[in-house]
Parts: sequence; C-alpha cells; structure tokens
Amino acid sequence: MIEVKDLRKSFDEREVLKGISATFEEGKTNLIIGQSGSGKTVLLKNLVGLIRPTNGEILYDNRDLTKMAGEELKSLRQEMGMIFQGSALFDAKTVFENVYFPLEMFSKISKEDKIKRAEFCLERVNLKDAGHLYPSEISGGMMKRAAIARAIALNPKYLFCDEPNSGLDPQTSLVIDDLIHDITKEYNITTVINTHDMNSVMNIGEKILFIKEGSLEWTGTSKDIMSSTNEALNRFVFASDLFKKVKQAEMKEATAQHQKPTTNQI
Ligand SMILES: Nc1ncnc2c1ncn2[C@@H]1O[C@H](COP(=O)(O)OP(=O)(O)O)[C@@H](O)[C@H]1O
Ligand SMILES: [Mg+2]
Repeated sequence: MIEVKDLRKSFDEREVLKGISATFEEGKTNLIIGQSGSGKTVLLKNLVGLIRPTNGEILYDNRDLTKMAGEELKSLRQEMGMIFQGSALFDAKTVFENVYFPLEMFSKISKEDKIKRAEFCLERVNLKDAGHLYPSEISGGMMKRAAIARAIALNPKYLFCDEPNSGLDPQTSLVIDDLIHDITKEYNITTVINTHDMNSVMNIGEKILFIKEGSLEWTGTSKDIMSSTNEALNRFVFASDLFKKVKQAEMKEATAQHQKPTTNQI
C-alpha cells in the first residue's frame, strides 16, 4: 500500500498539488482521473520520486520516500515498475533487449536466469515472437506491451502507468487495460494508473481518485461513480465521448418509447 499525506507541490509560487491525502491499495488498480492539467502527472512523478514534494509524506508500506536518499531510495525504486507516456522504449535496442535492460542493470541473478526472465515477461504480454524486432518495426499496441514487459521484469511491488492508452485505438486500449489489470492481480501489485479515459475507468477502475485542480475531489469505485452526486465529477464523466454517446442513446431510446403507440392505439 502507498499512502500520501498532505502532499503539496509548488513550481515557483504556483501550487499544483494542494494537500492531497490518499491511499493506493495493494493488489488493486488505483486510477487517478481528472482533466488535463489537474496535476495527475505531477502526482505520479512525486510518487515515484522523480519530483520532490514541497510538503507531505509518501509512505511505501510505512517507509517515507520523501526522507530517503542514496541506496535506500535506489532500492525502493527497484521495487517500482513504470510505464510512462509514449512507452519510452530504447529505439536502438530490440524488444528483447529493452526487456533485458533492467535485469542487466539491477538484477543479481545469473545471465541464464535473466534471459529466462526476459523471455517469460515477453511471453506474458504475448510478444514471444517479436523479441528480435526494433520499436520502429512494431505497432503502438505492441510497444505498450513491450513497455509493460520491461516494467514487470524486476517483479515490481508497485506499478505506475501514466496514460497507458494514449495514442491507442479503443480496442487495443482494452487489451492493454486488461493486461495491466490481470498482472496487478497475478502478482498482487499496487498499481497506480493516470488516465482520462472513461472506458478504462469503467473497465478496470477498482479504486478511483478524482483530482480537480490539484486537490482530491472524490474517491470511490467505478460503481460509485454512476450514483455520485459530486457535480465536478459528473461534469468530468459526462463530458467524455463515451458517456455523451450513452446519454444520446438513452435519449433516442426515450424518444422512441415516447413515440411508440400504446396498446389501445393499435
Ligand atoms: N516542471 C514543471 N514546472 C512548472 N509547472 C509544471 C511543471 N510540471 C507540471 N507543471 C504544471 O502543473 C500542472 C499540472 O500538470 P500535470 O500534472 O502534467 O497535469 P495532468 O497530468 O493532469 O494533465 C499544469 O498546470 C502544468 O503546467
Ligand atoms: Mg499527464
């Protein structure tokens, strides 16, 4: 579990995170949702230690990241897997070499076991036969899968994904969502996903944290979302393309029902 307490981050004089307190649960997909510019990426970067907060605590199973430095921070970061926007694969390395890289850098197991581990991770994301290809030779969905394989190479306890579906079509997005969800369950990972994709929210949102202008506005499950009376959350949810379509379909249905003749008219 990851717990943040009164997390604040300012750039110059501007406060971008305004005192967020929240928990991210083990073995669950924890989704951070919110409009573009609301502070999702800044929050994620604070969680992984890429940005230092102005104030607050970030507790990894009660170990405070904000008080760590050197070896301690390095070893905690080895427990984290990350998938950032755009996959960030090494263009000059093959898919296999990309997945092998963190093992080569950080793992103390034998070379033979590293190769086996990389092969296992590739197989897990269904890329067994694509290991020899370069990122430029594979599709966007395959790149994301390769990024997932690389992120899980070191058996992370924590997995962070910033907009994992950006640039993907809806169907491929579902495959990526399901993969992240299944891996979270299989290995009991604390997974934190930034998204503004309502499809993902409904598909894999076990715990949802809605951020508005740098503050935590609402927390709940995907079921709770539909019955929430929080106005800002409803505006966010119903502004999405998916829900516009659902609403339009509902309205069409209602109009059609209205126009249907009643039994005593026929
Ligand atoms: N390094 C930075 N320096 C100054 N402002 C930043 C920096 N990074 C992000 N911001 C600002 O913080 C706000 C939140 O950004 P971000 O977390 O990227 O939003 P989101 O991911 O929700 O779209 C934005 O207004 C952005 O301009
Ligand atoms: Mg972002």
